[in-house]
Amino acid sequence: MAIIPLLLLIFMLNFCPEIAQATQHTTKITEKTTLLNYIVHVAKPEGRTLAEFEDLESWYQSFLPVSTASSEKQQRMLYAYQNVMSGFAARLTQEEVKSMEEKDGFLSARPERILHLQTTHTPRFLGLHHELGFWKESNFGKGVIIGVLDGGIFPSHPSFSDEGMPPPPAKWKGRCDFNASDCNNKLIGARSFNIAAKAKKGSAATEPPIDVDGHGTHTASTAAGAFVKDAEVLGNARGTAVGIAPHAHLAIYKVCFGDPGDDCPESDILAGLDAAVQDGVDVLSLSLGEDSVPFFNDTIAIGSFAAIQKGIFVSCSAGNSGPFNGTLSNEAPWILTVGASTVDRRFSATARLGNGEQIDGESLSQHSNFPSTLLPLVYAGMSGKPNSSLCGEGALEGMDVKGKIVLCERGGGIGRIAKGGEVKNAGGAAMILMNEEADGFSTNADVHVLPATHVSFAAGLKIKAYISSTQAPMATILFKGTIIGDPSSPFVASFSSRGPSLASPGILKPDIIGPGVSILAAWPFPLDNNTNSKSTFNIISGTSMSCPHLSGIAALLKSSHPYWSPAAIKSAIMTTADTLNMEGKLIVDQTLQPADIFATGAGHVNPSRANNPGLVYDIQPDDYIPYLCGLGYADNEVSIIVHEQVKCSEKPSIPEGELNYPSFAVTLGPSQTFTRTVTNVGDVNSAYEVAIVSPPGVDVTVKPSKLYFSKVNQKATYSVAFSRTEYGGKTSGTAQGYIVWASAKYTVRSPIAVSFK
Ligand SMILES: *[C@@H]1O[C@H](CO)[C@@H](O)[C@H](O)[C@H]1NC(C)=O
Ligand SMILES: *[C@@H]1O[C@H](CO)[C@@H](O)[C@H](O)[C@H]1NC(C)=O
Ligand SMILES: *[C@@H]1O[C@H](CO)[C@@H](O)[C@H](O)[C@H]1NC(C)=O
Ligand SMILES: *[C@@H]1O[C@H](CO)[C@@H](O)[C@H](O)[C@H]1NC(C)=O
Ligand SMILES: *[C@@H]1O[C@H](CO)[C@@H](O)[C@H](O)[C@H]1NC(C)=O
Repeated sequence: MAIIPLLLLIFMLNFCPEIAQATQHTTKITEKTTLLNYIVHVAKPEGRTLAEFEDLESWYQSFLPVSTASSEKQQRMLYAYQNVMSGFAARLTQEEVKSMEEKDGFLSARPERILHLQTTHTPRFLGLHHELGFWKESNFGKGVIIGVLDGGIFPSHPSFSDEGMPPPPAKWKGRCDFNASDCNNKLIGARSFNIAAKAKKGSAATEPPIDVDGHGTHTASTAAGAFVKDAEVLGNARGTAVGIAPHAHLAIYKVCFGDPGDDCPESDILAGLDAAVQDGVDVLSLSLGEDSVPFFNDTIAIGSFAAIQKGIFVSCSAGNSGPFNGTLSNEAPWILTVGASTVDRRFSATARLGNGEQIDGESLSQHSNFPSTLLPLVYAGMSGKPNSSLCGEGALEGMDVKGKIVLCERGGGIGRIAKGGEVKNAGGAAMILMNEEADGFSTNADVHVLPATHVSFAAGLKIKAYISSTQAPMATILFKGTIIGDPSSPFVASFSSRGPSLASPGILKPDIIGPGVSILAAWPFPLDNNTNSKSTFNIISGTSMSCPHLSGIAALLKSSHPYWSPAAIKSAIMTTADTLNMEGKLIVDQTLQPADIFATGAGHVNPSRANNPGLVYDIQPDDYIPYLCGLGYADNEVSIIVHEQVKCSEKPSIPEGELNYPSFAVTLGPSQTFTRTVTNVGDVNSAYEVAIVSPPGVDVTVKPSKLYFSKVNQKATYSVAFSRTEYGGKTSGTAQGYIVWASAKYTVRSPIAVSFK
């Protein structure tokens, strides 16, 4: 199954066969002797620096059980990490891990988790134009290397042509494990890290990082695909396809395997990150994740910390487990956490009912010659069989749906396209797919196997009411093709994961939203099985799609501001984000009500404004150490993340709110005061004045209220105090507001989320 737009991050552990086996099917005794893949963190040896990789590897080997023969040690040791953590991945039994714990320098070991993977119109939608402005000023990302950790790539796709591309910068040290002719000045590196294959074939085995399901090809081309003329998907969205940073280089690290290709073992992810840091990438793009864990147990948080220490920007998907609160992946403050929103393009399919009512929905499969004459309409749930409304396998057995239009409900863990397959197999003529309540007005344009339309929950209720109001309900579907200009866009997709952050509630997450619904990008194979078709594209949805948009934007910013730190780039993206939609109203969510701050973060990315933010909130990598100590982590846990020995008692701890972050997430009980330092990256001489929109029930005081600059890179510090208002106002739940530093030329906005305690 190639087309799985919304992968549920929450169920990931269920897909890990090894862990499932260990916990379900084996007795205690075999569990103790079963070999599992462990991630092992160790301290560097005291008083010794390991100059050579060989020294490092033998230091790691000294932690392996003494009884193992040296030939076996080779097999047990899966990866010896050099750059992104101090430690290794190895196959070990629980008993062996226990005895390892006694050794000096041991920090922690845990069985690896399996993470999951979570155009062309979007550059224009984001205000990027060929002839003028930021796209041109940033040279389309020229000279920047984007590393993509995903399911590999289909190298011969025209989106990865290197026409007009210069050779990679001299610092590039990576390699290409395809045939040499498959890599070029666009696709400069491609490697695969597959622990399962490695364990089978021995450590020398390399395999080409070919993309088997399309996800990796799609995300890579979204970040940095070349201009490709005459792109379309099944006749829709015709135009030129292009990534966000079309002149940036791509380095591919395949870390996801299996069928459907979205099993991403932590040991492989770490190995991919280790190589990417070594190779010299500038931006890392990870459209994969898992539900929240503390940062010391979070592979991507740990690997990314080493990346930002080297000045590498890290952009990650926020997760597809919305619209429910507290469902984020990739929450570390040194990562850009990207939620998903719609663009102003729809693939229209309108249901017309027998009473004349027309209800707009979407489908990528446009059947323009579907008859406009009315057909009988039935509700799949009418049989009364449990869950038959969900149109799962066998749900329609015994029902007469031949030649009829069938109304199915979304959900139940059954794919949207599979539901259409069930209707088709039962002889149905077409499907109307209605949302679950939680998905509200958020619909998807899917490649359905029969004429179909996906409609909102409210529309579904209307159709149900119509069906029960008449003896002979009738309907048809009118296919209207690609429609551009939806004024309510961007709105937050229902699936986009929401804050608050569980790992660090004092940091507002997600950071930003960007295009992630019905995104057109490169695809390895034709959707219509037309083997003549060379440049094939697909349209899919997910935070997996919004993440590479932001990776591309980070590459553009890196190209135009080579000396900005990852935190400065992130600040620029966040403080300039849009909070209004195309018709100038507040950005809404799937309920069509103004979206919560835990859905949007700072707002919708505005790349051109991000290029010129005026002020930035900068953070040095070492600044995160007092923050991590302040989270209450033990010395060893902090050491694992920053991979050096840290004693929190010797460092000043700070509360989360004191990290120099461009946004605020405050829990109010008692009043709190935080300081922030801004750096002038705008005009030499400038004066800013603060404007405050306090969250209801909260007094916000900023001191001083004016900031003056007379130099570039000059810093200024202010304090912001939060307290409950004395009378009236909210005292429970959450509230939101913001502060803005405004000069004649710039507005620098920081959102504020308050939870009352
Ligand atoms: C972190 O990982 C350790 C080692 O596996 C485990 O014992 C602990 O429960 C984990 N902590 C959390 C909060 O996930
Ligand atoms: C490299 O080329 C050879 C010969 O054309 C072919 O058999 C092989 O599959 C190619 N390998 C890759 C990784 O494309
Ligand atoms: C119906 O579907 C729900 C999930 O939507 C599931 O929890 C439940 O077990 C199903 N019931 C039956 C009888 O299959
Ligand atoms: C493409 O081919 C596969 C396998 O033969 C088939 O199942 C599928 O329906 C075909 N798709 C289209 C759009 O014809
Ligand atoms: C979840 O979000 C809704 C909508 O903003 C809010 O009303 C509710 O209080 C939130 N719940 C939690 C636990 O944060």
